[in-house]
Amino acid sequence: MRDLDTAFDGESLITPDSIANEVFSSSSPIDQRALEEARAEMALHLRVAEQQFQQETPVGLIMQRLLGGLHVLRNRIAPKIWEQLIPLAQNHDIARHFHADPFTRWSFEKPRGYSGDAGLLDFIYGHPSVQPALDAASPMGKEVHGFTSQSPACVAVRERRDLLAQYVDDVASSRGGEAEILTIAAGHLREAAMSQALKNGTIKRWVALDQDPLSVGAVASEYAGTAVEAVDGSVRTVLMRPQALGKFDFVYAAGLYDYLADEVAIKLSQRCLQMLKPHGTFLFANFADDIADDGYMETFMNWALLLRSEEDMWRIMRATTEGLDVDCSIRFGANRNIVYGIIRKLS
Ligand SMILES: C[S@@+](CC[C@H](N)C(=O)[O-])C[C@H]1O[C@@H](n2cnc3c(N)ncnc32)[C@H](O)[C@@H]1O
Repeated sequence: MRDLDTAFDGESLITPDSIANEVFSSSSPIDQRALEEARAEMALHLRVAEQQFQQETPVGLIMQRLLGGLHVLRNRIAPKIWEQLIPLAQNHDIARHFHADPFTRWSFEKPRGYSGDAGLLDFIYGHPSVQPALDAASPMGKEVHGFTSQSPACVAVRERRDLLAQYVDDVASSRGGEAEILTIAAGHLREAAMSQALKNGTIKRWVALDQDPLSVGAVASEYAGTAVEAVDGSVRTVLMRPQALGKFDFVYAAGLYDYLADEVAIKLSQRCLQMLKPHGTFLFANFADDIADDGYMETFMNWALLLRSEEDMWRIMRATTEGLDVDCSIRFGANRNIVYGIIRKLS
């Protein structure tokens, strides 16, 4: 099996190396002169930030300037060249300031062995479980966190949680107590705490599937005695045995497609449609392709994602729904950092 197959088969762990194969893939050779120029520009950005730290410039200003510079540089040069610059940032002395932020450090160190685990998302949600780590952070770490936690990508993820809870509640109210819901890559299922329908007991079954046993265990204990069923399973489970989970009114995945190559994304979406009851809805979210934080995430957080444009989302939906009686639509979150593909069965 090729590297790409093992990394994107829907089951293997998402590591920086595996995702880099996809995100930075290109068959064209590296232009050495362009590489040297890009290296010099990266070094300059890092040097200016270092001087600003020495002069005790407010951290927010340092980060605003640096993140803007990284974003522009990343999006101007070839992905293969950008990939070569990432270690320059990661190995630079200023990285220690950013890693004083427990959120950035968690992402960089990957304590659960893969990128984007539910513990990391809890920093974004400001969940009480991360408070001790934030309290223990140095003054520098707290200042950096004050910036990273308010980044547009984090704002969009918090909105995503609220939107998902709203979708769940809308489906529940339209199904008169019979709603069955499937969340793929549920993590800690933080949207469940925002769902009024779950509180009111008007959901029949809410299956929360994830490949990380720690997250599955956390959901099982937090939602014991409710409609939530925590299930240990991967995308591969859905691809191979979709019938095992049953039929649903609403199936969705957030924080997952950003790691799936098109081929797997399309297969998974097809299976999700097969698991829908008549008039059911499938939704998948993806980070959009022009997010301001991309440079910081890929360097100091070591968190590369497959960012997708509106057209990329349509391509997945067209390939998924060929010949089916469905309605497809796209929506963005308020700050356009996250894009949602929505497929409704018309019969
Ligand atoms: C970024 S988190 C998103 C969690 C949650 N959906 C949210 O929005 O907060 C990604 C989740 O995907 C899960 N995951 C990654 N690869 C998976 C796979 N192949 N099958 C099932 N879950 C997977 C991880 O364990 C993690 O909990």
